Amino acid sequence: MACDKTAVAKKKISLVVLISGGGSNLQAIIDAIKNQQLDAEIKTVISNNVSAGGLDRAALADIDTHVVDHKQFPDRQTFDHALINIIDPLKPELVVLAGFMRILSDDLIDHYVDRLINIHPSLLPKYKGLNTHQLAINNHDAVHGASVHYVSHELDSGPVVIQAEVPVLDGDDKNTLASRVLEQEHRIYPMMIQMVADGRLSFDGKQLSLDKKPLNKPLLWKENKLRNHDE
Ligand code: GRF
Repeated sequence: MACDKTAVAKKKISLVVLISGGGSNLQAIIDAIKNQQLDAEIKTVISNNVSAGGLDRAALADIDTHVVDHKQFPDRQTFDHALINIIDPLKPELVVLAGFMRILSDDLIDHYVDRLINIHPSLLPKYKGLNTHQLAINNHDAVHGASVHYVSHELDSGPVVIQAEVPVLDGDDKNTLASRVLEQEHRIYPMMIQMVADGRLSFDGKQLSLDKKPLNKPLLWKENKLRNHDE
């Protein structure tokens, strides 16, 4: 019998990525796809900000882009419905918030409740909202970090899948700390998306499951290894 030596293409998970700024997390996802560390396809990148650097990154990678300027809409709900109108026909398996600096309406969150993910630069539930790096420094925290989570109704809430710890060093200012946190963000975001692509991770809107078991505490990315929280 003839043997077909062509590698069986792995199924790619489809993504829509929402950005507002520089798009370094978007770039990390693009790079992970290019380096075959992530079996995903970005269907489109949407920005609420026409000058977002991430739009150039998407264009360079030949990814379709949309600008939906929130200032052109009378309220949050109408803006979010404009987003839904772009996202829905693309049928993404994940809607990926990557530095998207808009508060989302309940309508949008409910619409994508089992597939809406975000990255936040703190060890949630600590430091929701803005200015997390300065807060960690002001409070003399020994450890800061980043969290990847599914999105629920309150700001920067929802079940956390992976956290990465970053030590706060003597002499750190918010910029030096932010850049070390970003390095870790760029690792854990593609990693989490790959878990969904592999069919290992899912969320039903209430409960996270990893490898068919409930995941009740975030995994911890520490010293280049993914660990259970208690390890
Ligand atoms: C990141 O720190 C992310 O955690 C936060 O916004 C920042 C976006 O950075 N939500 P970038 O646009 O991905 O470079």
